[in-house]
Parts: sequence; C-alpha cells; structure tokens
Amino acid sequence: MTAIANPAPVQSAIEPHARAQFPLLQPTIGMPMLDLRSLASRQGCYAYDPGLGETGICRSSITYVDGERRILLYRGYPIDALVENCSFLEVAWLLTNGELPDAGQLAGFTRDITRHTMLNEQIHAIFRGFRRDAHPMAVMCGVVGALAAFYHDGLDIFDRRHRLVASHRLIAKMPTIAAMAYKYSLGQPFVYPRNDLGYAENLLAMLFSVPCEAFRLAPAAAKALEALLIIQADHEQNASTTAMRLVGSTRANPYACTAAAIAALWRPLHGGANEAVIETLKAIGTVERIPEMLRRAKDRTDPFRLMGFGHRVYKSYDPRAKVLRPLCQEIMASLGRSDDPLLRLALELERIALEDEYFIKRKLYPNVDFYSGLIFRALGLPASMFTPIFAVARTAGWLAHWNEMIADPETRICRPRQLYQGPAERPLVAIADRQPCPPLVG
Ligand code: CMC
Repeated sequence: MTAIANPAPVQSAIEPHARAQFPLLQPTIGMPMLDLRSLASRQGCYAYDPGLGETGICRSSITYVDGERRILLYRGYPIDALVENCSFLEVAWLLTNGELPDAGQLAGFTRDITRHTMLNEQIHAIFRGFRRDAHPMAVMCGVVGALAAFYHDGLDIFDRRHRLVASHRLIAKMPTIAAMAYKYSLGQPFVYPRNDLGYAENLLAMLFSVPCEAFRLAPAAAKALEALLIIQADHEQNASTTAMRLVGSTRANPYACTAAAIAALWRPLHGGANEAVIETLKAIGTVERIPEMLRRAKDRTDPFRLMGFGHRVYKSYDPRAKVLRPLCQEIMASLGRSDDPLLRLALELERIALEDEYFIKRKLYPNVDFYSGLIFRALGLPASMFTPIFAVARTAGWLAHWNEMIADPETRICRPRQLYQGPAERPLVAIADRQPCPPLVG
C-alpha cells in the first residue's frame, strides 16, 4: 500500500470560454467594476483573486483612495483639509453620518461620546486577569471582545438607534481601554476619563497622568495626536475594516466585530507597521548602515523588509505620510527633539530609498506608519502602544463601515470560494496499512 501524494498544483491552460457579458458598475470616481455575481451560473467558473486585490466586496460611500494620484477623501473631503480644519470628533461624525456636523450637532455628539467614556467597573477585573507583560493589542482584543458580554441582550443591529448607541459606546470607550492597557503594563493606577477635555487631550491625560501629581498637557502633543487620529480614522477596505465587515456580515455583535478588527490591525503588514518601523530604524542604527540594510531589504532570500515602505494601493507617496512628515518635524521641534537620532535616520533613509532603483521600480514610498511611529514616540509612548492608538482612531472608520454594511440590502454573509488543489476522493486506509506521512513542507 503506498501513500497517495497530493496532486501537483493544477496549472491548466485557460479554456477559450464563450465570453459572457457582465454589467459594468460605475463609481462616482475611480475605476468601474465588473458585476460578477452571475459569473458561475453564466460562465461555469469562479474568479481567483488571492488577497482580493482586484475584487470589490461591497459598495461604499465613506472613503475614496486613489493610489496613483495620491488622493484620500473622507466622504469627499481631502484628508489634509480635514486635518487642518476639523477635530477628530467632527471627522468621526462625518464618517458615520455622511456629512460634517453643524455646531449644534457636534455639541450633541460630543455630549453623547463623553457620556460613555467610563467602563463598567467589573471590566477592571478583566484587565487584572492579563499578564503584566501582555502586548496591549492582546489586552485590547480581549477587553473589547468582552464588551459583547456587557452589551448583547436587547441589542438589535437592524435598529439604527441601537447601532448608533453601540457606535458611541465604542468611540467613547476605546481611548479608556487603550490607556488602561498601558497603565496596567506599567503597574500604575488606572486613570478615569476627563469629560472636560477634548478627545485627544483626554486620551493623553489617561495615558500620562498619575493621581499624585498635577497633569500638564502640552498643546502641541494634543494637536499632533488629534491629527494622527484623523489621518488614521479610515482607509476604505483595508484588512481590519474587511475583518469588521466579514465578521459583521454574520450579524455578529459589534463589540465582537471590533475585537476581530483589532486582531487584524495588530501585526506588521497592517497597523503594527508603526511599531515595526521603530524596530527597523533601531536595527539600522546609524546612517552609515543604511546601504547595507537596503541591500538586505532588496534580497528576496532575506525576510528583512523596510517597514513603513510600500502599500497595496498607494503606488506614489502616501498622502497620509505627506501630511505627517511636516507634522512630525513640527512636533519634534516643539518638544525640543529635533535632534532625535531616529528622526534624522528616518529622513536620510527616505532620501536614499527614494533614489534607489529597486524602490523606484516597485513604487515603494513611505506610508502612513513611517512617520506616525516617530510622532507616537515623540509623544512619549513605547512602541507597543502605537498600534493600540491606531485602533482607537480606526474604530470610527470600522463603525462607519459596519453601519453602512448592516443598512445595505445587498449585504450577504461573506463566504469566498477556493481553488481546491487537495486530493480527489480516495478510500480510507486502515491504520495498520498506512505508510508514514512524507515530511510537511512549508
Ligand atoms: N521592503 C522591501 N521590499 C518591499 C517592501 C518593503 N517594505 N514592500 C514591498 N516590497 C517588494 C516586495 O518584495 C515585492 O517585490 P518583488 O516584486 O520583487 O517580489 C514588491 O515590492 C511588491 O510587494 P508585495 O508584498 O507584493 O506588495 P503587497 O501589495 O502585497 O504588500 C505591503 C503591501 C504594505 C504589505 C508591503 O509593501 C509591506 O510589507 N510593507 C512593509 C509593511 C508596512 O509598512 N505595512 C504598512 C502598510 S500601510 C498601513 C496600513 O494601511 O495598514
């Protein structure tokens, strides 16, 4: 009896199918999309698109990204205009409601958010169940997921009012949770939210104040954090937003969906890149070592990558990095840290990489995380807290997408197909007659 090996991957030539016509869906701006919903019934095949890079999974009116022309619009407004003129809560309202609020609406929204900033005291016990050295993103996944246990019964996700309250709770509580994760890691007492402060100011106060001393807020730090929160608030169908939509498509509880989105944001290919950028800069160490590390980044046999460079969509300078670059220099100057060796190294690395044939050919430019990491560091946060703050900002976008998805009559459970390349049906062999398995590869 011989073991049946897996068949070789099928690479059959593309059959010359009679081409069916598919409707072309027109966006407001950007590329049209073929409506392939009848592909299998009319063509007898499915579409193969690992990573979904060529596939639209929903209609959306929230954010528009044009990677070639460096455009990022929230509900039609350019990101730099929003950073220049709006507060984070104005932008959060814009994302979830579709229009900018007037003064009365903003005051009402601010009231709604501040009313929900505290956590149920029982949640403190959940924090205490984590190891002190747990990564704050792990703690946030757990605590935000646990909110589903507090707010589940009686929650009707098809009721707009219920969805709104859940959205307010999450936008309000995320800074509190992130700050508590930080305080817990330090062994310091949790700091309660201060509803007399702005959104970014309150977050800074919860992160950095201690009960035994007066807290002095640096206006430059609050301004920089507010800008970072706006810039990171949404980015259309990125991995974590897709996780939010995918889990949400099963009609899951929104707190559980947000925990899934936090998990997707965590690691270096997505939101965790801001943390990884600092590691990369530290690994490079000095300007003299840049050429050597660039050689490693270009070597396909070496897993080392230049974190903070490249993007699936942006094939030119990331418009978010364009806003953050001067902001980063401004905050460093106002905090008296213009001579930060990591900032100097980052600027030099960017200059050299942008002149390098490999990066030019592949259109690899600094992305949002290249500068956001440096700003977070200037604010005094350790690298492990960069992605939790990113999660605080992105919660507004996740919820805007979740609300849009639930209200969309075209929403179906997200259930992709696969190109199966495992064994065809085969008889089961009794254990005594089996051959040892060949070693697993990969
Ligand atoms: N350093 C060195 N080479 C790179 C890098 C990099 N940072 N990024 C891409 N490449 C190369 C890659 O090896 C490939 O080369 P080749 O064509 O010779 O095989 C080519 O560029 C295309 O890369 P890819 O991995 O196929 O592109 P992707 O669209 O699948 O991945 C990415 C996009 C962001 C995951 C990737 O550029 C990357 O790993 N960057 C570093 C991590 C990072 O900064 N992530 C944050 C993204 S922005 C925040 C957010 O929106 O989530």
